[in-house]
Amino acid sequence: MWARGGAIGDLYQELLDEEVRRHKGFSHRAVEIDASTRENIIVVEDDTGDVYRFGMPGPELSEHEAEALLDAATEGEASFVVASGSLPPGVTGQRYRELGKQVSDLGGRFVLDSSGDALREGVQVGPFMVKPNRKELGQLVGREVSGGDDLAEAGEEVRRRYGVEVVMISLAAEGAMVVDSNGSEHIAAPEVEIKSGVGAGDSTVAGVVLALEREMDLRDAMRYGVAAGAAAVTTPGSQLCGKKTTDKLFEEMKGSVPTQ
Ligand SMILES: Nc1ncnc2c1ncn2[C@@H]1O[C@H](COP(=O)(O)OP(=O)(O)OP(=O)(O)O)[C@@H](O)[C@H]1O
Ligand SMILES: [Mg+2]
Repeated sequence: MWARGGAIGDLYQELLDEEVRRHKGFSHRAVEIDASTRENIIVVEDDTGDVYRFGMPGPELSEHEAEALLDAATEGEASFVVASGSLPPGVTGQRYRELGKQVSDLGGRFVLDSSGDALREGVQVGPFMVKPNRKELGQLVGREVSGGDDLAEAGEEVRRRYGVEVVMISLAAEGAMVVDSNGSEHIAAPEVEIKSGVGAGDSTVAGVVLALEREMDLRDAMRYGVAAGAAAVTTPGSQLCGKKTTDKLFEEMKGSVPTQ
């Protein structure tokens, strides 16, 4: 589900239609907006391999457009709805809260991967899962979080305070700390050749949701997410993870690949 407007919207439509042709079972739903679809620019310096991210603010949405987007997110009654990233200007974090409530009311599982106000508001509904990085975790507990035990404690604090089922704290090259009703576990990330970290967080969440949807055990699904995040790092620019690399890394982490 995405906001379509202007020339960038047309380009996105083409790219997504191509994905539909290539991948069975993939679909998307565009909601028309007056302003232009958000465009981000990522510059990779060949000499150093350094990556510069220029994150633009999203388009200004009318009240009506914001509502249409929310409706589109819940109309399929999906088993998982992921609210990821920042919200466009003029749309408050309250919207993620409304979305989370609607998803739960419909019997779906709400997954939140955001920051700032959107994260603080969205978490209030007690999502099935939140995936903060260390900084975002700090925003949730109102203090800076250091490593090890402190991470697990802060994760548990989030679980109890907001009624979240799983807190997955992503730690870039260090993998992730998972906190659920069975306690906490640090999942180390496999060592990979770094091309670009763009999309690592998104790929992690996508990997977890895919694995859970295919009925993988919760902790193994978290491992699959870590493998997907690491796989995203091996691809250049804004490319996300590939299934082949994800499966290979996951196998190396001693799990078993989810069946189709
Ligand atoms: N250098 C790396 N080596 C191996 N795995 C990595 C590396 N960087 C990231 N990952 C994988 O990707 C996951 C998500 O990365 P990270 O913690 O940087 O997310 P993030 O801060 O939400 O990033 P963003 O939102 O910018 O994509 C990690 O938990 C890990 O599994
Ligand atoms: Mg992130």
